[in-house]
Amino acid sequence: MSEKRNQVSRRQFLNYTLTGVGGFMAAGMLAPMVRFAIDPVLQPQGKGEFTAVAQVDEITSEPQRVDWTIDQVDAWYESEVTKSAWVYKQEDGSIVALSPVCKHLGCVVAWAGNDDYPDQFFCPCHDGRYYKDGENVPGTPPNAALDRFQQRIEDGTLYLGKAIPREEA
Ligand code: FES
Repeated sequence: MSEKRNQVSRRQFLNYTLTGVGGFMAAGMLAPMVRFAIDPVLQPQGKGEFTAVAQVDEITSEPQRVDWTIDQVDAWYESEVTKSAWVYKQEDGSIVALSPVCKHLGCVVAWAGNDDYPDQFFCPCHDGRYYKDGENVPGTPPNAALDRFQQRIEDGTLYLGKAIPREEA
């Protein structure tokens, strides 16, 4: 009697087998999807974040625009992206590197971009203005200062990383 109770019926055997095979197949299908979804998180961080953009002794006290390209990887899509910064040297010799992206709606600002304000950054989209240090001029559309790039100086070369909003810097 108890021997009969311990036996696996044909129906149970089929249930176990189908559940096991079905689970195995579902895992095989889901694993690549999960991997695809979280792939950017799995990419190594912190490598190549800084790019050489200028020689320090060539940087003047007048903001100059520097451009460089980086390889950007979005999941499986790789592209070359051009980045820019406004760079100048302060009286104490330290370097300031500002993002050219306006904090109002994202247009590109230019140093002395308006003849009426030759010592300010000017955004042509809505007449936004910033002082030389990147602080927004009160009463103009932008409500925050220009982002500052992370920077590193090695062997007389300026390397720039990510643009960081002021409150995070
Ligand atoms: S986008 Fe620069 S002022 Fe509006």
